[in-house]
Amino acid sequence: MAASPRREIDVLLHEGRRVEPPEDFRREARVSDRTPYRRAGEDRLAFWEERARELDWFEEWDEVLNWDPPHAEWFVGGRLNAAHNCLDRHLDGWRANKAALIWEGEPGDRRTYTYRELHREVSRLANGMKEMGVEKGDRVAIYLPMIPEAAVAMLACARIGAVHSVVFGGFSPGSLRSRIQDAGAELLITATGGYRRGNVLRLKRDADEAIEGLDVVENVIVVRRGFSAEGDETFARMQEGRDHWYEDVVGEASPKCPAEPMASEDLLYILYTSGTTGKPKGVMHTTGGYMTQVQATTEWVFDLKEEDVYWCTADVGWVTGHSYIVYGPLAAGATVFMYEGAPDWPERDRFWELVERYGVSILYTAPTAIRAFMKWGEEWPEKHDLSSLRLLGTVGEPINPEAWEWYREHIGGGECPIVDTWWQTETGGIMITPLPGVTTTKPGSATEPFPGIEAAILDDDGNEAESGYLAITEPWPSMLRGVWGDEERFRETYWSKWDDTYFPGDGARVDGDGDFWILGRVDDVLNVAGHRIGTMEVESAVVDHPATAEAAVVGRKDEVKGEAIAAFVSLKEGYEASDGLQEEIREHVGQEIGAIAKPADVIFTADLPKTRSGKIMRRLLKDIAEGEALGDTTTLADPDVVERLKQKYEEGG
Ligand code: WT7
Repeated sequence: MAASPRREIDVLLHEGRRVEPPEDFRREARVSDRTPYRRAGEDRLAFWEERARELDWFEEWDEVLNWDPPHAEWFVGGRLNAAHNCLDRHLDGWRANKAALIWEGEPGDRRTYTYRELHREVSRLANGMKEMGVEKGDRVAIYLPMIPEAAVAMLACARIGAVHSVVFGGFSPGSLRSRIQDAGAELLITATGGYRRGNVLRLKRDADEAIEGLDVVENVIVVRRGFSAEGDETFARMQEGRDHWYEDVVGEASPKCPAEPMASEDLLYILYTSGTTGKPKGVMHTTGGYMTQVQATTEWVFDLKEEDVYWCTADVGWVTGHSYIVYGPLAAGATVFMYEGAPDWPERDRFWELVERYGVSILYTAPTAIRAFMKWGEEWPEKHDLSSLRLLGTVGEPINPEAWEWYREHIGGGECPIVDTWWQTETGGIMITPLPGVTTTKPGSATEPFPGIEAAILDDDGNEAESGYLAITEPWPSMLRGVWGDEERFRETYWSKWDDTYFPGDGARVDGDGDFWILGRVDDVLNVAGHRIGTMEVESAVVDHPATAEAAVVGRKDEVKGEAIAAFVSLKEGYEASDGLQEEIREHVGQEIGAIAKPADVIFTADLPKTRSGKIMRRLLKDIAEGEALGDTTTLADPDVVERLKQKYEEGG
C-alpha cells in the first residue's frame, strides 16, 4: 500500500480527540439527529427519491435507479434543467431580489447579482450562444478567471443543454488545446485577462495560442477584463468572424430563453482530471442525479440557511467550483460570495477582510490554504471581526490535526463546527463528511458516509479491513457516468479492482467508532496544494525538454502544499547539468501543463534506480527526496545508483 506512513501515524495519534456539535448549533441545524441515516438505511432509493423531490422537475421519473455495472442511470425518464433549478424557480417569490452572487475582484472592484439579474444575464448569453449555432449536446470550453461570467457561462450552457468543459485559467495553452480537441468544443468562452497578485494573466493570448489552427473552434466569446497598462494589444487581438466581445453578444440578445427540458441522464458537463497516464480523463456528469446530490449535500453538510453568506474559495476550474460554488448553492437559493484573486494580495489578511466586509457565515477552503495562513501567523485574522462565521469546511486532501485545530481556534473562534469533506471529481458531490449538527468530529477524520452513501475499507481481495483501500460499494446519484470517449479507461481505472465496486484510488482506515480516516492516494497521482497532478503528465513534460533523456517524478512531503514535485532527470549526451538548465526544465513543465505542475526540485542524475526488469523504483526516489532511510534495494539492477543519488541530494540541500 502506497498511502503515506506518516499520515498513518498521525491518524493513530489523534484518534482520541473528539469535538461535539455545540448545543445551540445542533438545536438550530437543518439536520439535528440521525433520522436521515436511519431513513437511508431502511430504504436507500426512497431516501434519494425524497432528495430528488427537492428539485423542480418538468417530468417525473419512472425508475429511481437502473444499475447495470459500471453504468448507472438515476431518475430514469425524468426531465429537468440545471439552470432552471439554479435560477428560474427562485423567481416566484421574494428570493428574486435576493443576492445570488456577490463578487469582488482582486483590484477591489465589486458586483452583485440578484437571482433575477443572474437569470437575465444567463438567458441573454444562452440566446447569444444559440445565435452562433450552439445546440443541445454541443461542447463549449470555458477558460475564464474567477469572475461572475464564469458562473454565467456554465449556467448558459446548462440552460440550452450544451455541455461545458471548464478549463482552469492556470492551465497552459497546450493543456487547453488538448482538452478542446478531446471534447470537440466548437465554442470557447474566455477573457482578455484575470488578476493574480497584482498581475494580469493573459488569457486571451493563451487561448489564441491554444486554438491556433484548430478547426473545431468556430467562435470565441471574450469577456473584457484586465488590459495591460502599456496597451499591449496581444491581450485582445480579435479575429474577425471568429471572436466576439461578450458585452456585444449579451447586449444584443433577448433576456427570454426557455430552459431546455433535459433528460435526467443527459450530459451536464465534462471536467478533465489527472490520472495515472499522461493524458487527463474527461469525467462525465449528467443532470438529475448530480443536481440531487449537490443540492442535498450543500444544504445539509453546510447547514445552509436562507440568510447565510456562503464562500467556497475554490476556483470554478475544479470540481469544487462546479458543485459548491455554482450548482449546489444556487440550486439551494444561497447567497454565494466569489473572489477573484490571491489570499495574500495586497496583504495576508485579504480573506479576513472579505469575511468581515461581506459577513461571510460559511467558509469552505482547503488544508493547503489553512497551512499557509498558519505559517503567516494569527495576527492576520486577528485584525478582523470574524464573528459572522458559524461553520467551516475543508476539502481537497487529508487535513493534518494541527491545521484542523488552528482553523477551529483562530478562524472559527473555537466555536464553529468543522466539516472535513471527502470526495472527488469523479464522485461529483460530497461522499464522506460530518453533518455539523449531528456528528462528533475528530481532527483529521472525514468521519462517516453521507446518508445514502455506502463506503467500506477493503483489501486487494475485496475483504473488509481496518486499513486498506477506500471503496464505494453502491452507486450514488452524482457518480461519474464515464470517461469522455474512453469506455475502456473508465472500466479499467475505477471498476476493475473489485466486482461492481468503485475504486477511488485512496488509502483509508476505519477506527473503532466506524469513522473514516483518509490516508492519501495509492496511485501515481500527486496532490499539490489540493490540485491533482499525474506523475506521468509531469514526466512526459520533463522528457519533452530537448536536454532530457529520462525522467522520474515523485511527490515529497511539503509543509504547506501537502506534496511538492521532485523530478529526477538524466540528461542526453552533450548536455551539462547546471542551475540554468534546472530552471529551464521547471519553466518548460510550466509551459507544457501550467504553473501548478512545476517541479519544486530538479535533480540531475546519471542513472535512475531500476529493477532488473527495467522498472523505475519511484518509491526509493520518494525516500531520497524526503530524506528518509533507504528501504530494500536488493531488487535493484545497480544498488549503487541510489546511494550516489542520496548523497547527491543531501549535498544539494
Ligand atoms: C482527491 C480528489 C473533491 C474536491 C477537491 C479535489 C483527495 C479530497 C479530501 C479529504 C482527504 C481528500 C483524495 C481524493 N481528497 N478531499 N477531505 N480528505 N483527502 O478533487 O482533484 O478530484 O481530487 O483529493 O485523495 O481522491 P480531485
